[in-house]
Amino acid sequence: MKNINVALLGFGTVGSGVAETIRKNGRIMEDSIGCHFNISHVLVRHPEKYRDMELLQGIHLTSSFEDIISDESIDIVIEVMGGIHPAKEYIFEALNHHINVVSANKDLVALFGPEIMHTAMENHVNFSCEASVGGGIPILRPLHDSLAANEIESIVGIVNGTTNFILSNMDDAGVSYGDALRVAQKKGYAEADPTNDVAGYDAARKLAILASIGFHANVAFDDVLVEGIEKISQNDVQYASEMGYAIKLLAVAIRQDNGIALNVYPAFVPRSHPLASVKGSYNAIYVTGNIVDDVMFYGRGAGSLPTASAVMGDVISTAKHIMNHSTGTDMMLTETKRIPFYSSLKLENSYYFRLIVDDVTGVLSQIASAYADNDISIKEVVQKSRIEDAAELMIITEKTPRENIIHVEKALQVLPCMRQVANIVRVMEDDRK
Ligand code: NAP
Ligand code: HSE
Repeated sequence: MKNINVALLGFGTVGSGVAETIRKNGRIMEDSIGCHFNISHVLVRHPEKYRDMELLQGIHLTSSFEDIISDESIDIVIEVMGGIHPAKEYIFEALNHHINVVSANKDLVALFGPEIMHTAMENHVNFSCEASVGGGIPILRPLHDSLAANEIESIVGIVNGTTNFILSNMDDAGVSYGDALRVAQKKGYAEADPTNDVAGYDAARKLAILASIGFHANVAFDDVLVEGIEKISQNDVQYASEMGYAIKLLAVAIRQDNGIALNVYPAFVPRSHPLASVKGSYNAIYVTGNIVDDVMFYGRGAGSLPTASAVMGDVISTAKHIMNHSTGTDMMLTETKRIPFYSSLKLENSYYFRLIVDDVTGVLSQIASAYADNDISIKEVVQKSRIEDAAELMIITEKTPRENIIHVEKALQVLPCMRQVANIVRVMEDDRK
C-alpha cells in the first residue's frame, strides 16, 4: 500500500482534528483509496505545550520549518496555523519544493489565491483550500465542478458562525448583543477581539473566495463592501421577529447586467426562506444557477472535526492525484482576470429604519417628506414604543437604490424632531419561484 507522508503546520483546533480524523478513520481511507496517511511532522511555535499529547506520540514535533522542507519524503503539507506571516512564506516554499499543500486559511487565500495556485501549477503540485469557506461544508469543489454547467446568478451565504451564533441567541433567548457576544466568547466561537467576525471581515474574505470561483474571476477582499452586526440591538431582533423575519449576517454576490455586486451586511431574512432557519454556529451557502435553479449547502461552519473533514477531503483528493501522477492540474482559483463590479449604490432593496423621534404633533409629516424628497416609497410605519417624551418608529420602505437610502439618512439626521437614526437594515425578499 502506498504511504502518503503529511506534515501539519499547526496543531490547534483544526490540526488536532486532522490527527484525530486520521486515527479514527484511517482504515476507512486505506480501504477506499488504497493508501496509508502517516503524519510524519508537526510544526508549532511552542513544542513544550504539546509534548505530552497522546495524538502526537511517535511524530516529529518541531518549531523549525527547515525540518519539514528539508525532508524529501513529505508528500503533503497541511497548513492549519492561520494568519498571513509566516504561513504565506511556508506555503510558497513548500510549493516551490514540489510539495502539495492543503490549507484552511481564508485570510491568505482571499488575498493571494491566484498567485498561490499559479505557483502550485508551475511546480506541478496541488494547492487546495476547501476548509477555508464554510468549515465542514463541501462548497468550493461543488461550486467549481458540480455546478460548472451553470452561469451563477447569485451566491448568498451565512458564512460566519460567530455572528450567526450571536444573532440566533439574541433571537431565541432574547438577550442583548453584548450578552450574546460574551456567550460566544465563553464558548470559544468569538475571539477576545471579535472585530474580524462581528465587523463582517471574515465573511467578506469567504465571499471573495466564493465569488472568485462562482464568477470565474479574481475577486479580492477589498472588492467587497462590508457592514457588520455591531449596531443590531435586541429591539431590532424583536421587531424583525414580530414581522416574520430573522436577522442574519449575509455575504451576497449578485450578477447584474453589467457587473457583479459584492456585499456583506446584516439583513431581515423572511422566516419562509431556508436561510432563516440556519441557527447557531451553522453555516449555509445558497447558490442560484441559471440551469440548476436554487441549491443550498448547509452544515457546521467551524469546529475541530467538521473542519478536519474538509481538510482531509482535500488531502485524499491530492493523494489520488499523486497516485495518478496528475498533481497540478484541475485547480480552482486560477483566474487572474478582473470583472466589472456593479456599484452597490445602485442595488435595490427594501429597508427597515428604526428612528427615535420627539413625540410631538407633525413629526410623521416631517419624516414622510424626507422619504418623498429622496424618491423613497414607504411601505409600513409602526410606532413601537414611547420613551418619556420620545417615540420609537419603525419604517419599512419599498425597494430603493442604496444611494437614496444614504441620502435620506442624512436628511433624517438633521430634522428638528430627530433624536437618533438608531438603525437601518436591509430587508430580503423571498423571491423563490
Ligand atoms: P489555533 O487553534 O489557534 O491553532 C493554531 C496552531 O498553529 C497552533 O498549534 C499554533 O502553535 C500554530 N502556529 C501558529 N502560528 C505559528 C507559527 N508562526 N509557527 C508555528 N506554528 C504556529 O487555530 P485553528 O482554529 O486551528 O485555525 C487554523 C486555521 O484554520 C486558520 O487559518 C483558521 O482560519 C482556519 N479555520 C479554522 C476553523 C476553526 O473551526 N477553528 C474553521 C475553518 C478554518 P502554538 O500553540 O505553539 O502557538
Ligand atoms: N471565525 C470563523 C467563524 C471561524 O466564526 O465562522 C471559521 O472560519
